[in-house]
Amino acid sequence: MTEILVLYYSRNGNVASMAQQIGRGIESVKGIKARIRTVPTVSTDCEASKDSIPESGPPYVQHEDLVECSGLALGSPTRFGNMAAPLKYFLDSTSDAWLSGTLIGKPAVVFTSTASLHGGQESTLLSMMLPLFHHGMMILGIPYSESELFTTTGGGTPYGASHTAGQDDALELSEDEKKLCFALGKRLADVTSALSS
Ligand SMILES: Cc1cc2nc3c(=O)[nH]c(=O)nc-3n(C[C@H](O)[C@H](O)[C@H](O)COP(=O)(O)O)c2cc1C
Repeated sequence: MTEILVLYYSRNGNVASMAQQIGRGIESVKGIKARIRTVPTVSTDCEASKDSIPESGPPYVQHEDLVECSGLALGSPTRFGNMAAPLKYFLDSTSDAWLSGTLIGKPAVVFTSTASLHGGQESTLLSMMLPLFHHGMMILGIPYSESELFTTTGGGTPYGASHTAGQDDALELSEDEKKLCFALGKRLADVTSALSS
């Protein structure tokens, strides 16, 4: 079974909801399974601030996940137009994968959630791509043949999936946002499948 790593950080659950939709899109492709993983929060006073197993939700990512999976969907909430520190902290620990070329040639997509409509979705998505380029990954976006890119009044960009969660993070994924998450996951799985065969 070919697996795709869906790796995200989420504090209030919006990026986690997107990860589920992307996972559905991934698993709509025959022979492809989504391996969903998260990262612990980081603390300014102590590196090992969390138990090694999360209280709920998916397990924390291990470096072997990068080796074993054939593609990557990377998700983070916006933090001032950039990715959140816990995800960046994990990426900053991937020098071994970079040195050994583990991710070279593997396809990748990115996804994010913001509070406000113009709060930095595109800048976050583009900044999340940068370390993946350094790793030699092949970055995929969403083509405009997905008509929801034209009709969405919330998230959804050609650079990756996004969600506008509202000031109190209470807005659920809209139908357009869900469809674009699914389409992105499916596209990643289709390309991963083609590259694996
Ligand atoms: C420190 C900090 C910075 C943030 N910066 C932005 C921002 O620049 N633009 C924005 O729209 N939302 C910003 N937010 C809001 C989160 O990105 C937003 O609530 C997101 O939907 C949370 O995703 P989650 O539910 O998966 O944790 C920020 C939140 C925090 C805590």
